[in-house]
Formats: sequence, structure tokens, C-alpha cells
Amino acid sequence: MKGLSLLSTPSMWLDGGLPKKISRMKIGQRVLELSIDNNPERIKELVAQPMEGIAVPGEKALRILVADRITENALQQLKSSDYDYEFQPEITAKELISSIGGFDALIVRGRTKVTKEVISAGGRLKVIGRAGVGVDNIDMEAAKARNIPVLNTPNALTNAVAEFTLGLMIDIARKIPGADASMKGQKWEKEKFSGSELKGKTYGTIGIGKIGQRVAELSRAFGMRIVANDVIPIPEELIKKLEIRVSTQEEVFSLSDFVDIHVPLTPETANLANYSKFKLMKKTAYLINTSRGKVVNEKELIRALDEQVIAGAALDVFEMEPPISFDLARYDNVVATPHIAGQTTEAQNAAGMEVVQLVMKALGSP
Ligand SMILES: NC(=O)c1ccc[n+]([C@@H]2O[C@H](COP(=O)([O-])OP(=O)(O)OC[C@H]3O[C@@H](n4cnc5c(N)ncnc54)[C@H](O)[C@@H]3O)[C@@H](O)[C@H]2O)c1
Repeated sequence: MKGLSLLSTPSMWLDGGLPKKISRMKIGQRVLELSIDNNPERIKELVAQPMEGIAVPGEKALRILVADRITENALQQLKSSDYDYEFQPEITAKELISSIGGFDALIVRGRTKVTKEVISAGGRLKVIGRAGVGVDNIDMEAAKARNIPVLNTPNALTNAVAEFTLGLMIDIARKIPGADASMKGQKWEKEKFSGSELKGKTYGTIGIGKIGQRVAELSRAFGMRIVANDVIPIPEELIKKLEIRVSTQEEVFSLSDFVDIHVPLTPETANLANYSKFKLMKKTAYLINTSRGKVVNEKELIRALDEQVIAGAALDVFEMEPPISFDLARYDNVVATPHIAGQTTEAQNAAGMEVVQLVMKALGSP
């Protein structure tokens, strides 16, 4: 049976400090009429427990908190399951800390920060699910210390991010966003918007994991040369198939017309793209980043743009999200988007469905 929570108004509860009777309880989405009056001991026992997740002895009450927006079909899986769940996509950090104690599992996307405090307040937390790839919004050390597995959906967003990256490359090279804004301003500025093609240019990626590889494949289809750097060996088969020039990080910056980044945010990758790297780039080259904002040093990127060290940048991710200042977005030669590379119906459905299945599997039967 699903987890139970009491539904009552405070007035019902006051009768010498104890409720006279508990007559309504919520079980999952249903409200059951119960009658346990004339049983003061049982009432005392129930009142002593927290409001959330009161369980009837002998029955299981596995509760899942969904703290970010996941797709309707993913929620539907929870609705039709025997788990009790709450969907609170706008829960604040403070609210999360105060309520997490009543849940066995937490499902998030990128919005919710699962801090050390959240994890230590989650006394009965057994698993954390992340619909998406990056787990940098989760304190992995704290989760590890409590033996709480963090399960993500590494494949669900790959194609969405890869196609979006190609879109950014074409947008920045062909000045499409600027041309569109100009038309919306009822102008016909044909001369202002000539661009360059991808064919025959060099695509360089720092990190050639799932997304980097997919972008490399798509870039190859556009007739580009591929250079790549990774900290792990790039499979021989892939090198052959895409005719990859395996390079140092510095070479990727200096050889490429599009320097693209597809690494996770780690202490090693933070500030990876900085002024000294921009100085290695061709003046005609673009920086593309859909990985994590902190991988690029924004202050130094602004300096490089001001000094025309590089031709421009296309960014889906920022050091602070939302950014404190929108300085980068104001540059004509910057295409900026609000962390939407993975936001397709297909990818979000896949990520939501997968994370719910992973979490339910990890919890075991309710
Ligand atoms: N913008 C979005 O909406 C969005 C969506 C999904 C993922 N992402 C980001 O994209 C990143 C990459 O995703 P993925 O699925 O390709 O991950 P992945 O793990 O398959 O690939 C990452 C690659 O980076 C390499 N790498 C790690 N550190 C490196 C370093 N210092 N130098 C060079 N290479 C290094 C790894 O060896 C690996 O091959 C994620 O970590 C996430 O931060 C963004």
C-alpha cells in the first residue's frame, strides 16, 4: 500500500492536545475515510510521527519527491505505480531541506541543488535520480558518504544537445539570430549578414564522449575536418570512421574554426577555456559551449571579444544561471540561449521516463 499522510485541519486536532479521531487520510492521490476513534493509543502513536509519510505498521510507504519539472508521461508512470509521490517542481531550497526527511527518493533535473544539507536532512533517502546528464547540482561526496546512489540518464539528451550544437554553429557562422532580429525590426539589411560555411572548415572538440562524438559525426556530414582531445583514449574505430586528428587541447584551440566543448564540469575542466587558450585561436574562429558555463572563463571571454581575439561565441550555458549580468548576450557576435540544448520533447520524455524507472527499480517494490 502507498504511503499515508494525514489530512486534517488544526481544529480537528485539539482536544486535550490530541485529535478526537483521525477520520481522513491521503493514500497516494486518494483520500480514504478511516475511523480510528475510540483508540487513543493508536491516535497518540500516529500523532507522534511526522505529518508526512505516516505508515500503518506492517505496510510499506515508499515516497518519492519530484523536485523539478519532469514530463507528463514520466509522472504518469508514478501515478499508475504503487509508490506515493509528490510533485513539487518549484520547491525552494529551504522547503526542500525541511521536507526531504519524509521521502525515500528524490528526483531532480538541473534546477534543484542537492546540497550536503539536503542529503543530511534526508534521513530516509535511499536514492537520488537526475533526469539528464550532469550531476554537478548534486553533492556527490555527501551522497557517497551516505551510500545513496545517484542515478542519471546519460544517453537521453545526447542527440538533442548534438543537434542544438550544430544549430549554434550555423547560427553564429551565418548570423541567423541577428538577421531575424533585424527583420523583426522591419529592416532589410541584406549586406550586413553575409557569413561563412561549415564545409571545408575544422571542427574541434574538447571531450569526445557521447555528445562530442555525435556532433563530430554531424560535422563530418557537413564536410568538416575533425580534431579532438580527450583525457581517455579515443576508440580507434571512431578515429578511422571520422578521420579524427587526435590532438592536445592547445592544438584543438589553434587548429579549429569552431572550438567546441563537451566535458563534464570538474575541478580540472573549470576555466578550461580562458584567455591564454583564446589567444591560440584563429581570429576567424568561434567558441561553442553547451557543456557547463564554468568551463569557460566569462570575464576572459569578454576580454577576448573586446580585443577581437576571436570571431565570436555561441553559448547555451553560463557561469551563473540565470546570469547576473547579461553582458555576453549583448554582443552582436555572441549567440546566447538559456540552457536549452537538451530541451526537446523527445529528450525530456526519454530522460523523465528513464529516471523514474531507475528510481523505482532502486527502491524495490513499494
Ligand atoms: N546544455 C545542456 O542542456 C546539456 C545537456 C546534457 C549534457 N550537458 C553537458 O554535456 C557534458 C558532456 O555530456 P556527454 O554525454 O558527452 O558526457 P560523456 O561523459 O559521454 O563525455 C564527456 C567526455 O569528456 C571527457 N573529459 C573529461 N574531462 C576532460 C578533460 N579535462 N579534457 C578533455 N576531455 C575530458 C571524458 O573523458 C568524456 O569522454 C555533460 O557533462 C553535461 O555537463 C549539457
